[in-house]
Amino acid sequence: MAIDVILGLQWGDEGKGKIVDYLAKSYDIVARFQGGPNAGHTLKFDGKKFVLHTVPSGIFRQNLINLIGNGVVIDPITLRKELENLDNAGFEYRSRLLVAKKAHLILPTHRYLDAANEAAKGHDKIGSTLKGIGPTYMDKTGRNGLRVGDILLDEFQQRYENLKHKHLGLLKALPDIAFDLDGEEKQFFEAVEILRSLKLVDGEYFINEQLAQGKSILAEGAQGSMLDIDFGTYPFVTSSNTVTAGVCNGLGVAPRTIGEVIGITKAYCTRVGSGPFPTELHDETGELLRKEGGEFGATTGRPRRCGWIDLPQLRYTIMLNGVSQLVVTKIDVLNIFKEIKAATHYSYDGANHTELPYDLCGVPVDPVYESFDGWEQSLEDVTEFEALPKTARQYLRFLEEYLGVPVTMVSTGPERSSLILKEMAKV
Ligand code: GDP
Ligand code: IMO
Ligand code: MG
Repeated sequence: MAIDVILGLQWGDEGKGKIVDYLAKSYDIVARFQGGPNAGHTLKFDGKKFVLHTVPSGIFRQNLINLIGNGVVIDPITLRKELENLDNAGFEYRSRLLVAKKAHLILPTHRYLDAANEAAKGHDKIGSTLKGIGPTYMDKTGRNGLRVGDILLDEFQQRYENLKHKHLGLLKALPDIAFDLDGEEKQFFEAVEILRSLKLVDGEYFINEQLAQGKSILAEGAQGSMLDIDFGTYPFVTSSNTVTAGVCNGLGVAPRTIGEVIGITKAYCTRVGSGPFPTELHDETGELLRKEGGEFGATTGRPRRCGWIDLPQLRYTIMLNGVSQLVVTKIDVLNIFKEIKAATHYSYDGANHTELPYDLCGVPVDPVYESFDGWEQSLEDVTEFEALPKTARQYLRFLEEYLGVPVTMVSTGPERSSLILKEMAKV
């Protein structure tokens, strides 16, 4: 069996949680492979709403195993809160939630450092979620980090103290910011006890054994490909590999185990935090997209920046990920528009291009748009592709042809059931 992958093709918040939750019923295992509590994946079903940060989005499907892979960075405090939400809602997860021992831990001082680093950057700040992601991955690659498996060791407390003191030394060179370290530490150690009570596994052995037994696995990405540490709009990116390649490192599987790559894009585009966004709209249309789309961060509540869909950008991330199926979400948000636009080229260096320049931060690009007629009607009762208004089908067909990948699903609302399946290649 292969591992299918779901990931975001833009700057995050494409609706990954909703699609993973929907598709999870066709799989045995859902596994998160990178990122951490900077992610906010929203799921809505039966009139209930959940936002998951660390727990994979397959957790609401009975009998389904959910693995937090080694590529994820885990803040025990956030994880504990998520588990409490599941407990309060009456969901059983203990037998189905596994945590890879090689996943790295976010310490309170990682969050402290994140905030102090951002304060030091001033106007150049990344707009981080301040969840400690960057400093934790820095300690991982710097070979200083603490991992989930370390909490089982007698010397865990000592290792924690050593790393904390290293961090306190670094903080002396950064601006002073308010941080209740004692209070956070108390919460951290309480939450570590909860983490210790979960099923901690050698994730790489587990996942390969499951594959050998013919189990079906869905890898769930966080963030989006334009936030990838190597290929995103550096330095305005996150600190992990959000692209398909990250699945191999983040779960411990070989490249040849990758099957379908399901890329998700909104029918328009958003970004939260700083950094280049060529099709961003600073006008009424941008405001309308934000309002209609409810574009406020699921993790930080910040208003998301909004603009039209960006096809050179999508072509780039489809190439990087080897996308085999495209999912277009939030098409209902375009219901009110008389005219819809899609950027087909970038104008820079005196010519039109379909490729991104080396550094989107350094080269001012002017998007060149193509216009489409809107449909100006509700899609609420539409359950089949052919029943979509003609202009909506034309827009989707154009995306498909321009991007060279079949659209297999179209999402028409936040609820699990608001989904049109077009031509499912496999799942
Ligand atoms: P993720 O991080 O990729 O999982 O996405 P988020 O949960 O951060 O943001 C997506 C938001 O859009 C959430 O509030 C979802 O409930 C909502 N959503 C998902 N799909 C649709 C859709 O097709 N239409 C509308 N209107 N909302 C959607
Ligand atoms: P999901 O999984 C949208 C953005 C932050 C910031 C940059 C770096 O919900 O799609 P970090 O906290 O990683 O240091 O922030 O990346 N960012 C996201 N934007 N969705 C996310 O996750 C994001 N995770 C990080 O806003 O610009
Ligand atoms: Mg999100």
